Amino acid sequence: MGLLNKKVKKIAVLTSGGDGPGMNAAIRSVVRCAIHKGYDVVGIIRGYEGIFNEEIIPLNHRSVSNIINRGGTILKTARSTQFGTPEGKEKAVQILKKHNIDALIVIGGDGSYRGASELYAEFGFPVIGLPGTIDNDLKGTDQTIGCFTAVNTALDAIDKIRDTAHSMERVFIIEVMGNKSGYIAIEVALGAGAEEVIIPERQFDYDRMCQGIKEGHKRGKISWMIVVAEGAGKAHEVGNTITTMTGLESRFVVLGHVQRGGVPSGQDRILATRLGAAAVELIDKGEFGKAVGVLQDEINVIDIREATHKEFKHLDDFLNLVKVLT
Ligand code: F6P
Repeated sequence: MGLLNKKVKKIAVLTSGGDGPGMNAAIRSVVRCAIHKGYDVVGIIRGYEGIFNEEIIPLNHRSVSNIINRGGTILKTARSTQFGTPEGKEKAVQILKKHNIDALIVIGGDGSYRGASELYAEFGFPVIGLPGTIDNDLKGTDQTIGCFTAVNTALDAIDKIRDTAHSMERVFIIEVMGNKSGYIAIEVALGAGAEEVIIPERQFDYDRMCQGIKEGHKRGKISWMIVVAEGAGKAHEVGNTITTMTGLESRFVVLGHVQRGGVPSGQDRILATRLGAAAVELIDKGEFGKAVGVLQDEINVIDIREATHKEFKHLDDFLNLVKVLT
């Protein structure tokens, strides 16, 4: 679309919900691609909450220098309760319009997508969603920005734990992030060679696991690595159960927010960079209410209201594989 025909002149970008490594690379790509196409760009600080506080700053080419390799988000992020109400959204639209913002790019997870989707459906405000969450639970994309790095971070920690688990002949329970999504847990279990994985999407049979541990112990097995997603159980409780049922010594580690930080992996940076460009491209074509993703290495676009939840396609295959490899 030629510059003179463009209805959108000013684009705002924000990051919302839990941060993830690679969000900065996405911001950089949005800003530079938008400037390249002749748009003005502003950043909203602290997600949707920043709209109410009118924390809106101009962004130029230089504002996003030297951030591609940085974890976190230079725009800060938050979870806004005010934005969750219809009145809040109405107020947000008024403020966005007051600042002459014509389109909003939201980098975030399922809750952020729901908010953006309502902004578009109920108030007609032009939005584009860019998948930024370590949980990898958004539809329309094989991966969300941050997940690759989070899995690598967890694997790095678990490799270290394995050394002590084996040396001291213990059962270790490692709790990873994922309240509603077991994606990180399963990937980490496969990548770390864990014996068991406990996820929120499936019932877990503790009797079967403890029976297996006892039998393995009789055969001379000396250490176990058990991965639990935070939404499926607490690591210390899993440890207590195992010790009570098997008599074996256990220890637990909660990896927690370590998984959300750090230098983004190459895959996250490249994904974020491609998606930032794709989001600007959609605005340029005058398409709104969409979410961008990469499916089988191709840029993919779906309605944002459909993107808020994804079933993990190969979940049972992956769970089976963990069992087979034990
Ligand atoms: O959605 C990303 C995520 O890291 C989840 O995996 C986790 O359950 C949640 O955010 C933690 O949120 P907070 O940082 O608010 O404790």
